[in-house]
Amino acid sequence: MERTYVMVKPDGVQRGLVGEILKRFEQRGYQLLALELIHPTKERLEEHYQDLKTKAFFPSLVEYMMSGPVVGMVFSGLDVVKGGRKMVGETNPLNSLPGSIRGDFCICVGKNIIHASDAVDSAEREIALWFPNGVKNYASPLLGLLYE
Ligand code: PPS
Repeated sequence: MERTYVMVKPDGVQRGLVGEILKRFEQRGYQLLALELIHPTKERLEEHYQDLKTKAFFPSLVEYMMSGPVVGMVFSGLDVVKGGRKMVGETNPLNSLPGSIRGDFCICVGKNIIHASDAVDSAEREIALWFPNGVKNYASPLLGLLYE
């Protein structure tokens, strides 16, 4: 089953949105495989955002991401990468529809409360980076209620 990496960013954690975000992914039918609150290091964040190193906003992005703990989660499910991104909304919250997480809870790109992997290969890279001890697969017996 496909997996994705979701991270509640420091502003999302500080605003008490972890439970709300977890609830939305679980209610949709995605399976929670791992969850950790972590104070990320600069090195870990630079690795996570390695593709953005040349962007002007890179230093402020890393600084923002170090402003408090983050909560990382791994979810599995059918098409979970694409489905998860849809639930999150657009990078710029102003372009995010109400009903999406960013559309409901934030207004500014520099404080957009949540990250979700943008592709299957980046999801696997991010899961390996944030959960270096591995993530055990788990299939709930109730999955039969979700899939034909
Ligand atoms: S880009 O420019 O197309 O590469 O941007 P995008 O792929 O949409 O976003 C990549 C991540 O960078 C964050 N981002 C920003 N952070 C701070 N300031 C500005 N201006 C900014 N623009 C983009 C954006 O939220 C993405 O982070 P994640 O964690 O993946 O959501």
